[in-house]
Amino acid sequence: MKLWGGRFAEDTNALVLKYTASISFDERLWPYDIRGSIAHARMLADCGIISPAEGRQIIEGLESLAADIEAGEVTFALDDEDIHMNIERLLTERIGAVAGKLHTARSRNDQVALDMHMFVRDAVSSIADGVKELQAALIRQAETHLGVIVPGFTHLQRAQPILLSHHFLAYVWMLERDKARLSFLGEQVDRMPLGAGALAGTTFPIDRQQVANELQFSSIYENSLDAVSDRDYLLDLLYSVSTIMTHLSRLSEELVLWSTEEFGWVELADQYATGSSMMPQKKNPDVPELIRGKSGRVFGHLVGMFTVLKGLPLAYNKDLQEDKEGVFDAIDTVLPALKLMAGTISTMRIREGRLTDAFARDFSNATDLADYLVRKGIPFRQAHAIVGQLVQLAILQGTNLLGLDLGMMQAAASVIEEDVYELLRPESVVAARQSRGGTAPSAVKLQLALAKEQCGVE
Ligand code: ARG
Repeated sequence: MKLWGGRFAEDTNALVLKYTASISFDERLWPYDIRGSIAHARMLADCGIISPAEGRQIIEGLESLAADIEAGEVTFALDDEDIHMNIERLLTERIGAVAGKLHTARSRNDQVALDMHMFVRDAVSSIADGVKELQAALIRQAETHLGVIVPGFTHLQRAQPILLSHHFLAYVWMLERDKARLSFLGEQVDRMPLGAGALAGTTFPIDRQQVANELQFSSIYENSLDAVSDRDYLLDLLYSVSTIMTHLSRLSEELVLWSTEEFGWVELADQYATGSSMMPQKKNPDVPELIRGKSGRVFGHLVGMFTVLKGLPLAYNKDLQEDKEGVFDAIDTVLPALKLMAGTISTMRIREGRLTDAFARDFSNATDLADYLVRKGIPFRQAHAIVGQLVQLAILQGTNLLGLDLGMMQAAASVIEEDVYELLRPESVVAARQSRGGTAPSAVKLQLALAKEQCGVE
């Protein structure tokens, strides 16, 4: 018989049973369900709602059940619908009718809310660890390749040269904001819902604070309706994970580009690349491509969760069971993505020779020539036009600004002197951007030190 079968005369239709059951995906909540039940049973005994002996029996039964599940000796049954009823049934088989006292002053509605809070709390700390590992990989590459200059882009057109380290560090700061979002989420989920009952509280003299203390929550929900119907922390989780996936996807896109022969900036390590079944020469960036591709499903889960919630009246509705698969999938997507990206970044080879050649026919020093004219008293707008004409001239001659002879430059602007050639070298162009947060080696060194300190990376 079903745990709730008392008022039913007929068996559940098989398809209804399958459709309404959640055990196939909420089974992974078992460690949290058991830990929460132990805290609840201890509180019931301490408050005199069950006897101390009953409390002990229930807690010991739950502990032995946990050990058996851990050892893989337990199978859950679809007939028992979800993880909560499966565990209650298994406990009853172990310790008999006293197991039925565990659900005193509790509903599955506040129970599942508690389980999900504990699950998300652990997930947040694993995600934050993954983010930090990737930051460390980026910081190490930034530090190792501190002198390397690459073209910087706007509109994916060459704009101004920058340090490759500066580019890597941009991702480190993005990820640092991701950690801030995760820590906000950590605060949101640090609120204990148990004791709300089905929706209105309970007639028993429970001590919610005791349960919160045992399970290390800093506060409790002050409204029982809110406690059982709140899924805002899952929106926060899905938003935070979506933002991380967005960052990983942008970085992935760059790795895919950079590892083409056309760019040729990096070569992925063999262990982080894959081949083609037909073309023997291929080395494909499958990992970044899949990270980029998988970001979409996480965004989908965020929209899915909003859609589940937006029309729900208070308090619990079965729709809320739909909160789990998307959250689990988002976490199962982001954790390996972070790990694989850290591995890809730390093992890839930077093709420094190719990068040095990158400026041979390049105009990314044009702004610096305009700034030079400005320092000689020419208004910026006019300087812009003069340099534009010189660029056009160089293109016609098949060269770049450094390839124009002084006479030609002076014909465009008589104030130009010999020192312009030193100024237009990529190294000088980069070194000149010493403003705070800029790409000059001095500014990037400062930035690197700050990043290491703030991210807690050695
Ligand atoms: N499996 C359910 C869920 O995930 C647990 C709560 C069920 N509560 C209920 N009244 N049917 O939401």
